Amino acid sequence: MDLSHLAPKAQQVALLDDETRIAYCDMPVWIKTSGTKSFLDAVARMIELQRIGSRSCLGLIGVSGIGKTTMVERAEALFNTPEATRIVGIDLAPYGRHIDLQEIFLSQIGFKEKVKAMSNSNGVKRTKERLQQMQAAVCILDEANALAGVRSMLIQPNYTFLRGMANRDVGLSVIVVGTEELKTHLSVDPQCRSRFGLWEVPEWKADSEDFSRFLKAFVKFMPLRRVSVLHTREIQAYLANECNGSTREIVKVLIASAKLAIQSGEERIDKGLISLSRSMLLPTFGDD
Ligand SMILES: Nc1ncnc2c1ncn2[C@@H]1O[C@H](COP(=O)(O)OP(=O)(O)O)[C@@H](O)[C@H]1O
Ligand SMILES: [Mg+2]
Repeated sequence: MDLSHLAPKAQQVALLDDETRIAYCDMPVWIKTSGTKSFLDAVARMIELQRIGSRSCLGLIGVSGIGKTTMVERAEALFNTPEATRIVGIDLAPYGRHIDLQEIFLSQIGFKEKVKAMSNSNGVKRTKERLQQMQAAVCILDEANALAGVRSMLIQPNYTFLRGMANRDVGLSVIVVGTEELKTHLSVDPQCRSRFGLWEVPEWKADSEDFSRFLKAFVKFMPLRRVSVLHTREIQAYLANECNGSTREIVKVLIASAKLAIQSGEERIDKGLISLSRSMLLPTFGDD
């Protein structure tokens, strides 16, 4: 059997029984897109420049499910080691309307003291020392849309802290991650507006080369015995439309299609299977 269209591990799995192959389709696959690559390069530069005292602020903006959190996770996996936490990653989702950025940040880097006790020159000094010990260079705030929905008394202090993180007192580069709503929230504060650069992750489009590369790479990991050609204009247009350009939705549809291709004996994904799985996967109230 010619399985040269598959990645080495998928080639081995493709020889196994259907049940095993179907289960394998659910294994997480990570594709390094050119967007992710340039983002990782940008983070590497931030880390490099922070060493010589230069700091920057960035808003990583894109629709839900496009792959922002995945990019952040890759950056953490790449740059953090057991000895050095170069990236301090904070997920703001669990805090609801009660985000006090300073409090969350201090507790994330290991301080149990109340914010008040740290809001003096000694507290600032200890914070700097802790960050130096950790070799921290960048703070990434994921799900930062939440900042727009906090209780009104916390809005201004959070803007102030956000701007202050890149000042000499804390001295970190900052990346906030969210959707268009976050972009609006940043633009409301004149100082954040001028300080934060924007990095927009584009949605997948019918004619995107990068999308073609993504699809070509993705099918190499689905243990199907025949070749699937997904990077056609028709399929790209269909996926981009039906899935609102979101990687999460596209990946769901492709995995469901691969499973159907195994069950049906078709052994490859085509437009027909994709529409069939899409109709089976229509969003439910449970999806976010
Ligand atoms: N580079 C990628 N390669 C493969 N799958 C990806 C990639 N990026 C995202 N995904 C898929 O899309 C899902 C949603 O991505 P996520 O990073 O959580 O999006 P966001 O944070 O923008 O809402 C992931 O759980 C994963 O299944
Ligand atoms: Mg996310």
